[in-house]
Amino acid sequence: MRFDVIVIGAGAAGMLCAAEAGLRGRHVLLVDHAEKIGERIRISGGGRCNFTNRETGPANYLSRNPHFCRSALARFTPADFVARVERHGIAYHERDHGQLFCDDSAQTIIDMLRRDCEAAGVRWAQPCAVEAVRRLDADGDGRFELDTRSGVFRAQSLVVASGGLAVPKLGATPFGYRLAEQFGLPVVPPMPALVPLALPPDALARLKPLSGVSVAAAASAPPDSPVFSENVLLTHRGLSGPAILQVSSYWQLQAAVGQRGGVLVDLLPGVDAAAWLAERQRSRTLLSNALAERLPKRFAQAWCALEGSDRPLDTYPLRSLRALGERLNAWPLMPSGTLGYAKAEVTLGGVDTDALSSKTMEARSVPGLYFVGEVVDVTGWLGGYNFQWAWSSGWVAGQFA
Ligand code: FDA
Repeated sequence: MRFDVIVIGAGAAGMLCAAEAGLRGRHVLLVDHAEKIGERIRISGGGRCNFTNRETGPANYLSRNPHFCRSALARFTPADFVARVERHGIAYHERDHGQLFCDDSAQTIIDMLRRDCEAAGVRWAQPCAVEAVRRLDADGDGRFELDTRSGVFRAQSLVVASGGLAVPKLGATPFGYRLAEQFGLPVVPPMPALVPLALPPDALARLKPLSGVSVAAAASAPPDSPVFSENVLLTHRGLSGPAILQVSSYWQLQAAVGQRGGVLVDLLPGVDAAAWLAERQRSRTLLSNALAERLPKRFAQAWCALEGSDRPLDTYPLRSLRALGERLNAWPLMPSGTLGYAKAEVTLGGVDTDALSSKTMEARSVPGLYFVGEVVDVTGWLGGYNFQWAWSSGWVAGQFA
């Protein structure tokens, strides 16, 4: 069967792209190998889908080319997606840091995208595995030919929206990377990101009393990560919580260039802990009790035990209190790795943006071949940025494919 456009991957980027191309009057086929469409949307945001972030900007993304995402984000903005959500009567609310969530289930976003596709006349092949993709000579008969479990399909344009590698049990595959390589496009090596960090056994043994404790902190991965002021959670395997997930992406990038350092956790953000403890040098309060004024008591006690020091403040020399304060503001932790794709939210790396047009998402060297969403080397922070990239890049390709 012949189509104008075939989109591979009925996730966030693929569905939005298919609906847009269909609206332009293109004859579109959307192919997905999974039993259910939009599975990553369904589980996102704790089931409520953090579908965008009002404060989205290029600085919220990691990519070898940090400017690549600029054009698509400017042409299909968070406000554009919100307008679509409102048109469909989906109730939503804003949480901290500009994050927008559905009031009800994430399924409402999947239903919205499916309705938009149906209204635009998009055809579906699903579940349908793609076995091979060929490029035909430009003979007016369609440039791409796909062998699939449901037969052979041809199209002038092929949009690859097959996502990254996070959560393999939801159908993630390296399909998009392989296809890029088949057509000679470079791929930045993928790595799990927005992922909990593992700690080595000796550190885990020492931190065991803190397992399950969450603190409002600020984490960073020096030298070049931003500081993320959110919760840090200590687990039986290492470090998690939003601040750590954010930092993990930067920590992973540093690893890729052989510059992996540690993670610093500021346990008292906004407080000069050295000065605060020094001011209390005459107090007879135990160190852990003083810290419990600002940290969970269990955490304060376990942290003092880790430091091997929990005496009344007036028994410490001033320089020791200052040193303890400095460690409270910059508690160094050295992860041994990540918990991998099974626990990651996204994939760093992907199809190298140098090979794509930022205006259209089309491969520069393969006319008619487009890559959108997470398969591209553009990775957002935690907080709705990854869906916004999926919508923006999918929309852009939908105008040209
Ligand atoms: P996506 O992964 O959505 O879709 C890819 C599609 O391609 C899938 O339907 C898959 O079945 C299909 N596919 C793969 N290989 C194929 C093949 N060989 N043949 C045919 N089809 C194939 N982001 C955010 O902004 N806010 C949030 O709240 C969350 N929450 C969240 C929670 C969890 C647990 C995870 C794992 C991830 C998030 N994310 C998120 C990230 C977000 O889900 C992700 O960035 C987008 O879904 C990416 O959209 P894509 O359309 O690119 O890929």
